[in-house]
Amino acid sequence: MISYKDLGLVNTKEMFAKAVKGGYAIPAYNFNNMEQMQAIIQACVETKSPVILQVSSGARKYANQTLLRYMAQGAVEYAKELGCKKPEIVLHLDHGDSFELCKSCIDMGFSSVMIDGSHLPYDENVALTKKVVEYAHAHDVSVEGELGVLAGVEDDVSSEVSHYTKPEEVQDFVSKTGCDSLAISIGTSHGRQKFKPEQCTKTADGVLIPPPLAFDILAEIEKKLPGFPIVLHGSSSVPVEYVKMVEKFGGKLSDSVGIPEEQLRKAAKSAVCKINIDSDGRLAMTAAVRKIFAEQPEEFDPRKYLGPARDELKKLYMHKNKEVLGSAGHME
Ligand code: G3H
Ligand code: 13P
Ligand code: ZN
Repeated sequence: MISYKDLGLVNTKEMFAKAVKGGYAIPAYNFNNMEQMQAIIQACVETKSPVILQVSSGARKYANQTLLRYMAQGAVEYAKELGCKKPEIVLHLDHGDSFELCKSCIDMGFSSVMIDGSHLPYDENVALTKKVVEYAHAHDVSVEGELGVLAGVEDDVSSEVSHYTKPEEVQDFVSKTGCDSLAISIGTSHGRQKFKPEQCTKTADGVLIPPPLAFDILAEIEKKLPGFPIVLHGSSSVPVEYVKMVEKFGGKLSDSVGIPEEQLRKAAKSAVCKINIDSDGRLAMTAAVRKIFAEQPEEFDPRKYLGPARDELKKLYMHKNKEVLGSAGHME
């Protein structure tokens, strides 16, 4: 059993309490490799932003969970080396799908886990989430639950209104499970195609403009759970500049559409205190790598393309912390 406290990590408790009070959201950035980790830590130290490092099941398979955990421990030391007096870094399991997976992460140093029972019938979601909470809380680890189903990765049918979180369920779910935060569905979804083209309007130059998120549902949830930390998954903005850059250098990313920044800014000022971003980072790195491959075909030193990809990612995350989530300036 390794305690996250011995690794210098923190759980989400204090971080979320401050974010809800301060009207900003903590960035939750996924990582799978060293360059992503370096970019996240550099961006968050330079903007003085607390951060949640997210590890998905796919990341565990790709990079090995022991390596990822040591990287998170290294991230704390790296943040100090970069001048951060008191790093506030959470190591979080993204979309945990079983008690066993959550337990394994808790036992090896994660400070927060998500148990995603959103596909299950309500009572089964409650029972599974409660079981994870009981184990996690015995180790002072935070737990994120989920109610409502996101389109795309979580539900290949479509983002129907019926899949949105039902505000009438949230109080009961939180009180029965004891979870520390709740992921909700109000129209976001995973990946780079968050809406179908027929759900969007188009600008003159063909850029898709998505429909707004269901802020009315968010407001109802806030009323039912005043001051309780709410989480938004699938919150990449899918910047049109990156999509264009990828396509300019040979990629194909048709019908890409994300969540506009002004909507995320509005959400971050509400009870939403954790915003999950992965796809935008993938786009930034891919755009940078494609540019180098196209413009410098003789280059074969991985540092010469992964380095610029890392710098682009850092720039993007600094922008998110400062201009979108409002988390900049909230860490010593
Ligand atoms: O929720 C999905 C995240 O973007 C992680 O994606 O499962 O491909 O690592 P992944
Ligand atoms: P995006 O695909 O919008 O980046 O969402 C990531 C996410 O929700 C990870 O859990
Ligand atoms: Zn997610």
